[in-house]
Amino acid sequence: MKKLSIRDLAVAGRRVLVRVDFNVPLHAGGVADDTRIRETLPTIEYLLKEKAKVILCSHLGRPKGKRNPEFSLRPVAEHLRMLLDRDLGAEVQVGFCPETVGLQAEEMAARLEPGSVLLLENLRFQPEEEANDSGFSRRLAALAELYVNDAFGSAHRAHASTVGVTQFLQPAAAGFLMEKELRYLGQALHDPAHPFVVILGGAKIADKIPVIESLARHADTILIGGGMAYTFLAAQGKPVGDSLCERDKLDVAKRVLARAAEGKLRLLLPVDHVVAARLEPHAPHQVVAEIPAGQKALDIGPRTVALYAEQIAAARTIVWNGPMGVFETPPFERGTVAIAQAVAASSATSIVGGGDSVAAIEAAGVASRITHVSTGGGASLEFLAGQELPGVAALTGKTA
Ligand code: 3PG
Repeated sequence: MKKLSIRDLAVAGRRVLVRVDFNVPLHAGGVADDTRIRETLPTIEYLLKEKAKVILCSHLGRPKGKRNPEFSLRPVAEHLRMLLDRDLGAEVQVGFCPETVGLQAEEMAARLEPGSVLLLENLRFQPEEEANDSGFSRRLAALAELYVNDAFGSAHRAHASTVGVTQFLQPAAAGFLMEKELRYLGQALHDPAHPFVVILGGAKIADKIPVIESLARHADTILIGGGMAYTFLAAQGKPVGDSLCERDKLDVAKRVLARAAEGKLRLLLPVDHVVAARLEPHAPHQVVAEIPAGQKALDIGPRTVALYAEQIAAARTIVWNGPMGVFETPPFERGTVAIAQAVAASSATSIVGGGDSVAAIEAAGVASRITHVSTGGGASLEFLAGQELPGVAALTGKTA
């Protein structure tokens, strides 16, 4: 069902609670990567131009229900102020409330002027947030008159700020980032242009099985890389040496391979590997077709890159999630970077999600050539696995 959009709300002069995903890395008291903040600017700036009173709420990290200054959103408020001033060319009032709910939050929300912003302290300082507690949801809802969810990255969490709050604050509309994510990922899942090529990497097969099973129904080709490739190779009876291998998932891998063999899905596995005896930066390494005993495969080899690049070049839709090797340890990032370059060079609609693959396209300097870089890691995976995201389900449906 189509969801109500922020455009459908009469926001002028009204207090709008906006759930954003400002779960960003911090470093030395500042924001280390502001992608997620910049991605919500269209929603925030639209509300400011429409003279709404904007109350932002987000989680940051996993402080486990306890107040912890390390996870305070205060530096994010400062960063947001800088971004808004720069974008809008005027000084924007961006207040920070050291509470999430309570008297001070209520007073600050009540005093907000149209066209100004208030960021509440980290939702996860309260255990009630992750418990989706109804009392907490009610107090959060009481701060505002309208609700917008722009936190696609948190939409797979059924928490007070993504789900519970909508029981007390209606209507609940999608922000621009939420809409954009659902449009691109929804199109890939339901109506992709063919050939549709999916690139899946990462360490664990268990995390990706639902995605493989869901996308196997729509994709023409799935290219497998990263640690999970070796569980698939082991399932085919190939030697994997000391590579990562989930022995307890061999049956699952066999089932996926058998299903691919029956249908018209092409599931490709690495045909060569970069191996080393130890995983450490610049460890002595070699390229092999068969993984020798005592060696770990840490990246896809050049023949695999060429094979995968050929599929990528012919694609009209590409979805990529997860690195092809141990991307954070040089030189085992090369396969991932080469795949990033191949995706960027393709004329297909390309969608990249998941922290490491997004980091790879940034490291390769090709982020601007990707059609859509998703801000959701877990959320994009669950969406592509065909699961309904609770934060999306909770939004008000659009009737007309
Ligand atoms: C993310 O970074 O994927 C989201 O912000 C969700 O964070 P979480 O996994 O801690 O719920």
